[in-house]
Amino acid sequence: LEGEHQVTTEEKMAQLFSARARELHAPVYGAAGQERHDSISLAFGLADPALFPREELLAATAAVLADDASAALNYGMSYRGFDEQIAERLRREGVDADADNVLVTHGSGQVLSLLPDVFVDPGDTVIVEGPTFMGAVKKFALAGANLVAIPIDRDGMDIDSLEEQLRDMAAQGRRPKFIYVIPTFQNPTGTVLSLERRKKLVALAAEYEVPVIEDDAYIDLRFRGERLPSLLSLDTAGWVMRLGTYSKILAPGLRIGYAYGRPEFKQRLEMFKSEGTTGPYITRVVAKFAENGRLDRHIDALNDLYRHKADVMAQAIEQHFPREATFLRPDGGFFLWVQLPQGVSAKRLLERAREHGAEFLPGGNCYAGGRAGDDAIRLAFSEQSAEQIQLGIERIGRAFADM
Ligand SMILES: Cc1ncc(COP(=O)(O)O)c(C=O)c1O
Repeated sequence: LEGEHQVTTEEKMAQLFSARARELHAPVYGAAGQERHDSISLAFGLADPALFPREELLAATAAVLADDASAALNYGMSYRGFDEQIAERLRREGVDADADNVLVTHGSGQVLSLLPDVFVDPGDTVIVEGPTFMGAVKKFALAGANLVAIPIDRDGMDIDSLEEQLRDMAAQGRRPKFIYVIPTFQNPTGTVLSLERRKKLVALAAEYEVPVIEDDAYIDLRFRGERLPSLLSLDTAGWVMRLGTYSKILAPGLRIGYAYGRPEFKQRLEMFKSEGTTGPYITRVVAKFAENGRLDRHIDALNDLYRHKADVMAQAIEQHFPREATFLRPDGGFFLWVQLPQGVSAKRLLERAREHGAEFLPGGNCYAGGRAGDDAIRLAFSEQSAEQIQLGIERIGRAFADM
């Protein structure tokens, strides 16, 4: 008993958690228990299972087990041929890539988890975008990073504002530990950092000697317009580390991603990667699948599907949302970001939308600190079918009408 209160086992357990673990809360998106069984979620960037290449992955798995089972099934390194495929993909982007500098990981999410171990002591500054991918940024915050969010407009991160921040810090003799940026089809806004800003960002990184973590999860998912050079390809001074993933271009369940950058970055990340190397088995399967242009053809098919679904979503929004709700028509990626009409709260809209059987991510979930962003929502067109997207948007339209 603590006073009148009977201490539960859960509470006793919780007392043992580290301060960091106690800070973690399971994400709660509005009141529980309102979900309808036929609810349509446009909240998360899941892949569309319709295009999982089951047969080809099955064939690749069989081939690996027939030809290379001893290496694939034992402890060992990631498959060298897979590192080489990644390096080859980077060379196609104009990077003078060396397979030795590829670090294969359990999704790019693993690199994001390891970054604070390598770079962050409590009180260090990390620069992020606002809004951003909180899955990553939460980990930086838990390590005690002081997060500075640079605003985003339709051309991505506001580089002038970044420069001001770097200049102010330098004047105080301080340097951020890194700049975390999602330059292509940003999560959550879908924006693309313009070429001019890319060049300036890379130049600022070199001038102020600050690493840039380029998280390019969506770079290959361009279904319209011209591809822009990656930050890594523009970087001649070696300050950019690029994160990539096979989650968006093949299947998230593979849990395969990578980091590419200076050998020092790779070595430090490896030191904290305590489970050792990633996937001797799965890297062989993915490499086998990707042979002979198969991965590129698969990406083309994904882009055809995602273009269609993004267009269906945009049309449905124009039809069902109030005219004062504004958005940019995406040219790629998984997400569409809607700026709500003045006075409409994303959280309250979500409560209503749930009653009508639809879900989205309220903008506040995409900002460090969660104070900003209640004036916007993120909608994912990646997972649901075109028909479900249409129905989901119609239901959110009804929630708007209620308000
Ligand atoms: C910007 C961004 N980076 C990284 C990830 C994590 O991807 P992975 O499956 O490779 O861990 C995601 C997934 O949603 C993402 O949106």
